[in-house]
Amino acid sequence: MTEQRATQVLGASARILVVEDDPLMRTFFVEALSSEGYEVEEAEDGLSASNRLVKESYDLVLSDVNLPGLSGVELFRQSSTWSNEAAMVLITGAPRVEDAVATIKEGACDYLTKPITVDKLADCVADALAARQTQAAASSQAEESGPERHLHRLGYRFIRTLGLGAFSTVFLVERGGTQYAMKILQKLGHITPYSDLLVRFLHEGEIVSGLDHHGIVKVLECGIGPGYDFPFILMEYVDGGTLARHIQQDSLTLEEKLDVISEICDALSVVHENGILHQDVKPSNVLLTADGRAKVTDFGISRLGGLWQSDGDGPLMGSPAYMAPERAGSDETADQRADIFSLGVLCYELLTGQLPFAEKRWGSMRRQIARRRPLAPRRLGMVIEPPLEQILARMLQKMPSDRYQSAADIRADVERFRSGQWTECGPEGQAGQEFLRRLWR
Ligand SMILES: Nc1ncnc2c1ncn2[C@@H]1O[C@H](COP(=O)(O)OP(=O)(O)O)[C@@H](O)[C@H]1O
Ligand SMILES: [Mg+2]
Repeated sequence: MTEQRATQVLGASARILVVEDDPLMRTFFVEALSSEGYEVEEAEDGLSASNRLVKESYDLVLSDVNLPGLSGVELFRQSSTWSNEAAMVLITGAPRVEDAVATIKEGACDYLTKPITVDKLADCVADALAARQTQAAASSQAEESGPERHLHRLGYRFIRTLGLGAFSTVFLVERGGTQYAMKILQKLGHITPYSDLLVRFLHEGEIVSGLDHHGIVKVLECGIGPGYDFPFILMEYVDGGTLARHIQQDSLTLEEKLDVISEICDALSVVHENGILHQDVKPSNVLLTADGRAKVTDFGISRLGGLWQSDGDGPLMGSPAYMAPERAGSDETADQRADIFSLGVLCYELLTGQLPFAEKRWGSMRRQIARRRPLAPRRLGMVIEPPLEQILARMLQKMPSDRYQSAADIRADVERFRSGQWTECGPEGQAGQEFLRRLWR
């Protein structure tokens, strides 16, 4: 009977992609849906799912909301941009996450709450496929879409997906034997004022393409494609992974970490001297080359990430953990010193492996950033030399006027420390210790 249900819906066996990181759950979904007569494939995280979605066509994607790397919600946004045809069912256990899903829920996206039985799963999938078929019939003249076709028109060959964000996808592409990273803005017409995003996306692309510095990912070209429907930023491909990954894998020595900090400072100095604010300084926006040099990326568009942060105590979306107190309070006058605070959070994480403020909800995160002193690295069991602690502490001051005023000043202090000119018993010793006692908790 159940097999009939699948064939009744499509007249043929529907193709389903199951995206689930938990192997037991994944096996459950694959077996349950296969026994319903569907053709089922599986992916264990969002990036590999995205790569499949770009290359292959599916009738339905069944995805867990909580995935490593990117959430099922983000995957839904991606897939609804690239693949008009796949229906999407999100699996969620937490009611708060349901709220988030509900806010972005358009007809094409359904969700399934835990606990899940075979019958509940089969019904939900059959309903989503039926709804999709009705929609497909209504828009049968609609042109087939997909990034590969667009990339082809621009003269590039798709290799794989490098990264996914709320508003864009970054692809590794190739042309004439050279590899590039191409960032594409998504069409999010019903969620965000798309025209605003588009203007900012291209504007930032243009600004950054004017910056020529080894610490800033080089933008080679930006535009909206031959059909005016494919906003893109073409960049140099940086092949050593994000700083976030290196922090996670704890793969850098102290010397390498200090090199990275100095390089980011150099890059931010140039950015700020050109009157640009980065506004989203964090480890996933710093890329490393194969030989360990740091390059800052992802300018400007990041600010729009703020559109996703609810004012209330809703679930976290975006990157508030790195946000300066003045920005967390939506102070429109925030300046380059807000980037310096974010750099402080990045450096704290780089040196201790942990965030100074870690809260799951936006409201409590904002309160912590605004009022709470960061935890002393010693209390995390980390021994950091006092001068370095002082550098961290000066970046993380709540009041912009108490912070370092420029990235160049941070760099100078890091170099002073490295060359042995600034030691614990040096002139700053006593006052510095006092300063630290007041700063950390
Ligand atoms: N030039 C590049 N070379 C290699 N990987 C990149 C490049 N640009 C972006 N990426 C990858 O894509 C991810 C998202 O890119 P990013 O520009 O930060 O976009 P978003 O606005 O979606 O955060 C990065 O974290 C990184 O993993
Ligand atoms: Mg980013």
